[in-house]
Amino acid sequence: MAYMTDMIRPILLHPDPRLKKPAAPIADLSDALRALADDMLETMYDAPGIGLAAPQIGVLQRLIVMDCVKEEGEAPRPMVMFNPQVVATSDTQSVYEEGCLSIPEQYAEVTRPAEVQVRWIDRDGHQHEQEFSGLWATCVQHEIDHLDGKLFIDYLKPLKRQMITRKMVKLKRERARA
Ligand code: NI
Repeated sequence: MAYMTDMIRPILLHPDPRLKKPAAPIADLSDALRALADDMLETMYDAPGIGLAAPQIGVLQRLIVMDCVKEEGEAPRPMVMFNPQVVATSDTQSVYEEGCLSIPEQYAEVTRPAEVQVRWIDRDGHQHEQEFSGLWATCVQHEIDHLDGKLFIDYLKPLKRQMITRKMVKLKRERARA
């Protein structure tokens, strides 16, 4: 039996047209998609980050991974969600300073519903529905946004968004030269 190791995939950086496109629903789970999810978790932990959406590695399919456990010594809680969707949101809002692996070193406060009910399919094809709050709620909404071609900077005022985009263009130019 072949032994396969997970692969760290390159993460696309904003601005990139692939980060602005809606991702396609996943019709059938396959071993290839499960392997992709494993690669995404590996890539996310390596970055390090707390969430990653498939479009961020150039795959326009509705798949996200996340693990918002941050406390030292606490067991990791990797989550893989195929076709995740927000089915209900709380009226109460919360504000978090968000970042994104596709927009490194840029952070800004974003207001979102404090609690969300999310439905998804797990790696074994089972449907789940669960309520998320706190950082998990923010993270899952941020990642699902990626599947709709939406970035956290799209919530910011145009001037702030343009400033971050200019910095990113510069960063990408520097990296291309290096
Ligand atoms: Ni992101």
